[in-house]
Amino acid sequence: MSLPTRVKIVEVGPRDGLQNEPQQVPVETKIELINRLGAAGLSVIESGSFVSPKWVPQMAASGEVLQGIDRLPGVNYPVLTPNMRGLEGALEAGAKEVAIIAAASESFTRKNINCSIDESIDRYAEVVEKALTEGLRVRGYVSCVLGCPYEGEITPEAVAKVSNKLYEMGCYEISLGDTVGVGTPLKAQQMIETVATDLPIDKLAAHFHDTYGQALSNLFAVLQLGVSVIDSSVAGLGGCPYAKGASGNVATEDVIYMLNGMGVETGVDLDKLLEAGRFICDYLQRPPASKVGRALSCSIS
Ligand code: HMG
Ligand code: MG
Repeated sequence: MSLPTRVKIVEVGPRDGLQNEPQQVPVETKIELINRLGAAGLSVIESGSFVSPKWVPQMAASGEVLQGIDRLPGVNYPVLTPNMRGLEGALEAGAKEVAIIAAASESFTRKNINCSIDESIDRYAEVVEKALTEGLRVRGYVSCVLGCPYEGEITPEAVAKVSNKLYEMGCYEISLGDTVGVGTPLKAQQMIETVATDLPIDKLAAHFHDTYGQALSNLFAVLQLGVSVIDSSVAGLGGCPYAKGASGNVATEDVIYMLNGMGVETGVDLDKLLEAGRFICDYLQRPPASKVGRALSCSIS
């Protein structure tokens, strides 16, 4: 069995984690969280979304957040941009990296961004072209890669088709989202193998939600295939507003603990990460969904 020697963690807590929170989290709390995550050694911290505030009110002040954080050298702070309007907002706020959000399911695409898959691809082609012209990096998301809350089974071929389009458009990395967390290890491997027939494995990221407690097992399964980029959320925060019942991403603390235990480097300081998790859990007044966070630190019982 071979595993990558180093894994890049894409911390999505300030975006994916907080987007579903019903109570408005103040801008200064989001800034403090992002700064703490940077201090913990995370090199990619997704910091907000330039989406419609009517659709996702929690992300409304993402421009202020992006302008208020300490931008550490060597750290990327991507934001989601679902259309040209979002890209313009991100550019105004000084974003250097954006992410587009596609899906392998027609129904989810409609619920999430109010158009068909084909329409989303046309829309994103323009967004990516403009972003690249402006010198930004663009990451591509594909949701529902292991199942859809509305359609159930999604074939690996459907995932590969959308992934190829995003990659051809100029996305430097494709993040494969198990949005509802329904996947299991062999299905996760099969999906990655199918997508990797056309795309380099080092351009693929695993973005697994943990609704059914499968995320770490699924990650271990795809690490063995050579996946070396993992999206995760501090304290296991989150869910998707358009995937009812889906819980947060796999917790960053749990991923780091697992990778540390296997001798895989990440550059993340687990103690400082636990402090960042504690900070946001104290604010939200609830214990972390992270098992490692609970075992090692949380002040809320
Ligand atoms: P729409 O209603 O079709 O768009 O929404 P529209 O162009 O008709 O605009 C409607 C209104 O929104 C207008 O305002 C626009 O100005 C405004 P009004 O005239 O009604 O006052 N608007 C905007 N405002 C601010 N920023 C913008 C923007 N665009 C339009 N960028 C739209 C289309 C894509 C905007 C909408 O569907 C939307 O915002 N969806 C939210 C999508 C989202 O954030 N989902 C959660 C993130 S994805 C996720 O979590 C999955 C992921 O984690 C991976 C995984 O787990 O699988 C990434
Ligand atoms: Mg997600």
